[in-house]
Amino acid sequence: MERNISNFDEYKKEYAKSISNPEQFWEEKAANFTWKKKWDKVLSWDFTKPEIKWFEGGELNITENCLDRHLEKRGEQTAIKWIANKPNEQSRNLSYKELHSEVCEFANVLKNNGAKKGDRICLYMPMVPELAIAVLACARIGAIHSVVFAGFSAKSLSDRINDATCNILITADGGFRGAKITPLKDISDEAMKSTPSIEKCIVLERTKSRISMQSGRDIWWKEEIKKVNADCPIEIMDAEDPLFILYTSGSTGKPKGIQHSTAGYMIYTEYSFRNVFQYNEGDIYWCTADIGWITGHSYIVYGPLLAGATTMMFEGVPSYPNAGRFWKIVEENKVNIFYTAPTAIRALEAKGLDFVKPYDLSSLKVLGTVGEPINEDAWHWYDKEIGNGNCPIVDTWWQTETGGIMISNLAGVTPSKPTFATLPLPGIQPCLVDEKGEEIKGNSVEGRLCMKFPWPSMARTIYGDHKRFKETYFSTFKNKYFTGDGALRDENGMYRITGRVDDVLIVSGHNLGTAEIESAMDEHENVCETAIVGFPHPIKGNGVYAYVICHNTPKNEDALKKEINDLVTKNVGPIAKADKIQFVSGLPKTRSGKIMRRILRKIAEGDTQNLGDTSTLLDPAVVEEIKSSAQ
Ligand code: PRX
Repeated sequence: MERNISNFDEYKKEYAKSISNPEQFWEEKAANFTWKKKWDKVLSWDFTKPEIKWFEGGELNITENCLDRHLEKRGEQTAIKWIANKPNEQSRNLSYKELHSEVCEFANVLKNNGAKKGDRICLYMPMVPELAIAVLACARIGAIHSVVFAGFSAKSLSDRINDATCNILITADGGFRGAKITPLKDISDEAMKSTPSIEKCIVLERTKSRISMQSGRDIWWKEEIKKVNADCPIEIMDAEDPLFILYTSGSTGKPKGIQHSTAGYMIYTEYSFRNVFQYNEGDIYWCTADIGWITGHSYIVYGPLLAGATTMMFEGVPSYPNAGRFWKIVEENKVNIFYTAPTAIRALEAKGLDFVKPYDLSSLKVLGTVGEPINEDAWHWYDKEIGNGNCPIVDTWWQTETGGIMISNLAGVTPSKPTFATLPLPGIQPCLVDEKGEEIKGNSVEGRLCMKFPWPSMARTIYGDHKRFKETYFSTFKNKYFTGDGALRDENGMYRITGRVDDVLIVSGHNLGTAEIESAMDEHENVCETAIVGFPHPIKGNGVYAYVICHNTPKNEDALKKEINDLVTKNVGPIAKADKIQFVSGLPKTRSGKIMRRILRKIAEGDTQNLGDTSTLLDPAVVEEIKSSAQ
């Protein structure tokens, strides 16, 4: 394993070098991996197109770097330590050798079923080792994986399959989640009614639920595995060949298929994993995310395996069988590094210390958070009650689009500050800009967060829609990647992320597009128009607040609210359900017809006094009505 940055001075030197000579800096990191052919050029880029290429001409396979490369030295070491949803179910440890062989076997299953390099394969699976195996098997044969979080609805699944024209769907009969079973195959069946590109559906047996199998299309994982051996040479990939697509919400209803490429993603996830978490040989690392999100891709699967780490995977939820589950798992597995989301911390804090105190958490060395700003109270609780005051907390800011952690302290190496993501990682060049796109220099300033230079793991495009990629990220501010977040930089140059400045809502750490929820609600026959905004929520960070205009005055408001939320569950997924629905007769609009969400946000926050400038409103009376009936 490469040596990690070990003190603040070293960080400063490393950072300075990464800025003065980025190509040399990343070339040195790249040299630690196994390549089939060395690259011709480290970097070429043009943000106006945008076109970004790292290690052009290089050839490799990421799974050779995650698996084969480690076999000699750490073949017997646990690669994946899997913890089942049910506390009494046997956990599973897969050594690097075992993981390698299971990945090769399943890669052969994919090949037997017609999968080829460049195909898109959709994964809709529970958090079981086979999900990681399937991800890596795709990468081994050069197929592009598109993992869809198993909480998404049939409609979301079919939209994503169709957008990428996937030819294979990998799913399970069902998934265990707390006391519930998610009927993954039934949902897949519903989705596959409208996905003409799917030729094969490979089904893993997990819950032994009764399901139907369509002959010719649906096949069992366990039957297919019997037909293959574990010999599967790697597919040789170009450095810039796509590795995966992962959908994230945007400001229009259609989700964006964020596409990542191979070599840059590999180098950056490994480097950021080791340095942010200060991973050392033998540490047990646990990220509680789901592989359906970018955090799971980069910091359960790829980053840790590339670094030869032991990575844990948990099938269940933090509240099952009770709110002590995380801490019990930490104790039983002597977890050293623990990475979770602020929403989970707040939910567990709310349950009280009786669920924490019984457990020995002394194995913990490093704590981390991701996905949304962490509030001060939750930060201190995490620090004191979980870290016992002596575990550095890394507050890691990044995005699906960035592929890896961008702004974060390095555990115990660079300074931390509650609620601040702090400093950029080496190679990352953030800046703040004003509304006109002028860079705001100096410290103690606030603005919109942009990146002015490429980094290896940045997204290369939106699948099938490069124009939207350019418009969303590279057109708002000239020659800069715009993150969509606002941030402030304190007197020491440390960054604090203040939240989204666009129409994306972060609810329980999940990215939701307000437009996506609105169009789901608009499907109701009595719904005429909707506007979704966020409001502060003690556990979720943001709650979903819906303003709804009906065609006819509802006879039973509660029944209509339920029907509206059922549509959201069906079209988007239960995480997007509105916490509050307010029926209104009109929405505050400008003369040009744009909804003034700023006003709606204020009212949803309960602040009806400081609505700011309302002079551009077409009909100010609407605001008065909304204020008086606000919840
Ligand atoms: O608003 C920021 C917030 O989450 C957004 C990215 O969401 P997603 O693509 O789903 O990726 C989440 C996991 C990497 C960002 O634009 N966000 C993420 N991490 C933080 C954060 N906000 C504040 N602090 C963080 N540490």
